Amino acid sequence: MKKVPTSRVDKLLGSMGYGSRTEIARLGKVGGIVLDGADLTDVSKRIPVTPDLPSRMEIDGEPLDPVPGLVILLNKPLGMTCSHKEDGALVYDVLPERWRRRDPAVSTIGRLDKQTSGLLLLTDDGDLLHRVISPKKHVAKVYRATLARPLVGTEGPLFEQGGLVLEGEDKPLAPAHLEVLSPTEARLTVTEGRYHMVRRMFAAVGNHVEALHRERLGGLTLRDDLPPGEWRLLDQAEIDAIFGGS
Ligand code: URA
Repeated sequence: MKKVPTSRVDKLLGSMGYGSRTEIARLGKVGGIVLDGADLTDVSKRIPVTPDLPSRMEIDGEPLDPVPGLVILLNKPLGMTCSHKEDGALVYDVLPERWRRRDPAVSTIGRLDKQTSGLLLLTDDGDLLHRVISPKKHVAKVYRATLARPLVGTEGPLFEQGGLVLEGEDKPLAPAHLEVLSPTEARLTVTEGRYHMVRRMFAAVGNHVEALHRERLGGLTLRDDLPPGEWRLLDQAEIDAIFGGS
């Protein structure tokens, strides 16, 4: 069984962006921290850090944020960048402001281009992040691409056999699966995560991607009940599903 981590309350809340240790000590003194219905005034107390803590702890009258080890599913809208430091709209802007001060930081699992929409995961769990993006895990990524020109019919077999070399690279691509949806629309399943990969694959066959949307990652599918720009936390079964259904 996994050992439950414990933490001092001030250290835990500090790492979740609630303030400095001094600020958290002050908050505890004025009754701003409640655990299991009782004021917690001694912030040096060690407590087990369990996923149910947000339902048992209140900070300034609000449920505690999710404890470290969170995974977020975001329906990324067009126009947002997957970066902590670029100018313009960032995917992190959709999360509560306090979450920017979390340590470990919340980061995207891989990236989607500014002009790509759809399923994007974010996490503060570095091990999980590396497992999802590791080429060895072969986690499938499914994209719906709208193309500038009609498909000619040779793209599917070419992608399927693998070995295509993208411009500026020398390592051949792994096999990818193409499903034709209409003359100018296709669903492409890839297991790698190279820079601008889908756009460059279609560029390699003389086409141009006009719109790109990620529908699926492993066994996780983006559903209609999560509109663009909205996010939700994944539960453990959903996290496990990332590695299934490939
Ligand atoms: N391939 C691309 O070209 N862009 C993305 O955002 C994802 C995959």
